[in-house]
Amino acid sequence: MTTLEIKDLHAEVANPDESGEPIRILKGVNLTINSGETHAIMGPNGSGKSTLSYAIAGHPKYIVTQGSITLDGEDVLAMSVDERARAGLFLAMQYPVEVPGVSMSNFLRTAATAVRGEAPKLRTWVKEVRESMNELEIDSAFADRSVNEGFSGGEKKRHEILQLGLLKPKIAILDETDSGLDVDALRIVSEGVNRYKEREDGGILLITHYTRILRYIQPQFVHVFVGGRIVEEGGPELADELDANGYVRFTAAAGRDADTAAIGA
Ligand SMILES: Nc1ncnc2c1ncn2[C@@H]1O[C@H](COP(=O)(O)OP(=O)(O)O)[C@@H](O)[C@H]1O
Ligand SMILES: [Mg+2]
Repeated sequence: MTTLEIKDLHAEVANPDESGEPIRILKGVNLTINSGETHAIMGPNGSGKSTLSYAIAGHPKYIVTQGSITLDGEDVLAMSVDERARAGLFLAMQYPVEVPGVSMSNFLRTAATAVRGEAPKLRTWVKEVRESMNELEIDSAFADRSVNEGFSGGEKKRHEILQLGLLKPKIAILDETDSGLDVDALRIVSEGVNRYKEREDGGILLITHYTRILRYIQPQFVHVFVGGRIVEEGGPELADELDANGYVRFTAAAGRDADTAAIGA
């Protein structure tokens, strides 16, 4: 059993205008994810959801100024990005990066070797990749193409889930894996996530602002994320409420809190 524990996490990014103050994005995030649990984080655009995923994965631009992240008690913030991956953390990015000149098959094998600590045996590896690609309905021709280069949005997302299945992390963070997918791709990608969950008993943090993916991947916990923190928590019924009423109730309340704080200061 694995536990990812995030406590009072604050993070900021340097202001693109160099003379400006850093931009504070995360303002006290508390969240605990155990193996086998699926948590959905739902929030409007710009609320800091991707920043949370970057802070966990160790993106160098996002500076943690307060709080802690631990994986089974180990200090994640003290780890480099690759140490975090080896420790069992995985991030499927909202905007997967293109890596011209590195073939998908080379990339997957290198990543699997790094995470597993030894090169997978070639024969079993080829079979493993082929089966995983079939499950995600990815054409075998993609193995020879450069990582994400010229892939459609949906193809990129399928390849993120291909990595998830092959790298078998303990905790998977999926940042808007549903965005830009048509209905068929949404089903295929969701089935890939559910297979990962069954096979590895992984913990999942599913970041989204639409509820439609939650029809395929059912979360036990739903967290509403507004203004850089979690403002409400509940079960799947909370997602239904968001589907019906949107985020207005939460954004309005967060605005009031910010006003009150400003007046207080
Ligand atoms: N590298 C950056 N430079 C400047 N502002 C940023 C940067 N990254 C994020 N932000 C700002 O922080 C806020 C939260 O962004 P993000 O975490 O991407 O939100 P979400 O994923 O919820 O849409 C936004 O207002 C965004 O413009
Ligand atoms: Mg985002």
